[in-house]
Amino acid sequence: MRKLLNKLLLKFGYLITKAPRLLVEQSIESAGMLPEHLTEKVTIGESAETPDNELYEIFAADTNVHKWRHYFDIYTRHFDPYRSKPIRMLEIGVFRGGSLRMWKQYFHPESLIVGIDIDRNCQQYEIAEQQVYVRIGSQGDPDFLAAVNKEFGPFDIVLDDGSHKTYHQLISFTSLFRDALKEGGCYMVEDMHTNYWTSHVDTPQSFIELAKQMVDMLHEPYLGRKEINFRHKHAEAVTELALSYLGANLNGIAFYDSIIVFDKRLKKLPKSEQR
Ligand SMILES: C[S@@+](CC[C@H](N)C(=O)[O-])C[C@H]1O[C@@H](n2cnc3c(N)ncnc32)[C@H](O)[C@@H]1O
Repeated sequence: MRKLLNKLLLKFGYLITKAPRLLVEQSIESAGMLPEHLTEKVTIGESAETPDNELYEIFAADTNVHKWRHYFDIYTRHFDPYRSKPIRMLEIGVFRGGSLRMWKQYFHPESLIVGIDIDRNCQQYEIAEQQVYVRIGSQGDPDFLAAVNKEFGPFDIVLDDGSHKTYHQLISFTSLFRDALKEGGCYMVEDMHTNYWTSHVDTPQSFIELAKQMVDMLHEPYLGRKEINFRHKHAEAVTELALSYLGANLNGIAFYDSIIVFDKRLKKLPKSEQR
């Protein structure tokens, strides 16, 4: 019953939320602490250049992949460290299978790539002999996600390129981050610009708003404490801390134009040291 109530609240709560467009305008116009020279309009133009990295070359050689050009530098920055060893990757959103083939070519050849999609037609893009698998179900269904994790996980990388609806982004993140993402893993959500389109916001709060709050959770150890509580060998230093699961396991969050990256690593007690 409680689960159902939560679901209904999440589904229909967006009716009372502020329009996402308004939120951006408010942030830009009433960012009270920012001087005008940082908020005045400047003009941006097109770039004639294409991304200069190997992943873009792989992308450009295939058809049936749909990615924004500026994502390739971000993928390269966050995914390159995973290339030297076989990994397990879960991509939400298969479409025509092009991105699954792209990841297969980019990562170590023994890597396992799993795509999930709600569309049954996507099953045809499985290439089991190359460890590229497709499972059909909704990213908004925690039981389906748990079954995919049981069959193939835990994963080094989860990439959410599914419906881009905030309800789905939330359910996928909350279902996968703890149990389906490995220590040292990377959880990436793309096409975050859709969080600024009312058509895609179906939760009381957008996913990007939630991610901004998670920035605060990164700093949970410091709440109500002082620097000496973390000072090396100081009498008032704490030796252990009880933190929320996210506060303890979020090592960093990176925000880009349309992409958020959550870096999972169990925190050690922060230490300050003076020499
Ligand atoms: C943007 S496309 C994926 C593109 C693909 N990753 C690529 O780069 O070429 C989004 C996909 O998400 C799928 N999708 C929509 N709603 C979904 C849901 N609730 N669960 C899983 N997949 C969903 C759509 O069927 C579609 O194939």
